[in-house]
Amino acid sequence: MFRFRQLFSLFGILAFVAYTLAFPLKPRDGAPVAISSAQTKQYIIPAQFASSAYCTTLKRGSILAEDAKILYYAGDGRKIQRVYVAHSPSQGIIVAYQGTNTSSIHSIEDDIEPVRKHVDSRLAFLGKDVKISDGFQDQWLLTADKVLNETKKALKQYHHSNLLVVGHSLGAALALLTSAYISNNINATLQTVLFGLPRVGNDEFANAIDKYVPDQNHIVNYHDPVPHLPGKSLGFQSPSGEIWINHNGSYSALRCPGQENPQCSDSVPFYEYDVDNHLGPYFGIYMGSHNCSASRY
Ligand SMILES: *[C@@H]1O[C@H](CO)[C@@H](O)[C@H](O)[C@H]1NC(C)=O
Ligand SMILES: *[C@@H]1O[C@H](CO)[C@@H](O)[C@H](O)[C@H]1NC(C)=O
Ligand SMILES: *[C@@H]1O[C@H](CO)[C@@H](O)[C@H](O)[C@H]1NC(C)=O
Ligand SMILES: *[C@@H]1O[C@H](CO)[C@@H](O)[C@H](O)[C@H]1NC(C)=O
Ligand SMILES: *[C@@H]1O[C@H](CO)[C@@H](O)[C@H](O)[C@H]1NC(C)=O
Repeated sequence: MFRFRQLFSLFGILAFVAYTLAFPLKPRDGAPVAISSAQTKQYIIPAQFASSAYCTTLKRGSILAEDAKILYYAGDGRKIQRVYVAHSPSQGIIVAYQGTNTSSIHSIEDDIEPVRKHVDSRLAFLGKDVKISDGFQDQWLLTADKVLNETKKALKQYHHSNLLVVGHSLGAALALLTSAYISNNINATLQTVLFGLPRVGNDEFANAIDKYVPDQNHIVNYHDPVPHLPGKSLGFQSPSGEIWINHNGSYSALRCPGQENPQCSDSVPFYEYDVDNHLGPYFGIYMGSHNCSASRY
């Protein structure tokens, strides 16, 4: 009996060592932490900036939520996603990308092109095994350099070092790529807050984002299907930083350690997905152009 137990525990240790070598322990297995509405308040302003990017009336000089003023604006909402760079005395420099121009799941599926041919040289620093959805990368490249230049210019002009990058849906994917590009080109305090982020690249991409864009949160609204597209079975993986809105009386949302935490939105079975959740509310804010007239632009 004694020998059997010895053998058993030796086997257990060996198995544990083998497991650890094969699957290095990552924070991905940590338990979610409940966060209150007082703690999620900090994401309301980023949500307002992301929603503003849908407004067709935006132009240079427009005043946004809080005290932000648009410095640079590009895109048409059709071929090129709208994107703006703004300055806010209280928030710093803001970069915001418009998302998909519809609430229809079909057009979101059209955005996602899971073929991953190559990574552009601008993002090659992320690592040689990194792969990114072509659809997102191609759309991002249309304005990437201009946005980078305008962001640099704004930081310099206003002597700010705080940079907030936001986006919803397709715009969240573009904002994530821009955050990576900025991390390699601009010395600033970068905060990235994304809403309804689809999966943008593979495992190596997710790991590189964790390394180069450490202050990144992507907020998943309850049963939104979009954060689960394209499927993990196609080799896609979300970075760390999920915040899962899942109201439960005692809390407002869950902070989910690691990548693809199985106790957060990954726990929702596909037959419970609800595309209406994609547009919000994100801490009271709905994404899209319907709130433009309520604002000051
Ligand atoms: C969405 O697309 C339609 C038709 O292409 C266009 O008229 C509308 O302005 C767009 N909406 C936004 C918010 O970009
Ligand atoms: C961005 O700035 C670089 C360096 O000043 C310049 O070479 C490049 O043409 C600019 N790109 C765009 C799209 O403005
Ligand atoms: C980046 O900015 C910080 C704070 O503004 C400064 O201390 C640091 O020297 C800068 N680093 C580089 C490489 O410019
Ligand atoms: C709410 O959260 C508490 C604490 O985690 C849990 O025990 C309870 O089952 C949850 N209730 C619902 C309705 O999900
Ligand atoms: C519209 O914008 C205002 C001001 O930014 C905000 O307070 C309100 O919650 C927004 N409404 C929706 C439906 O998002």
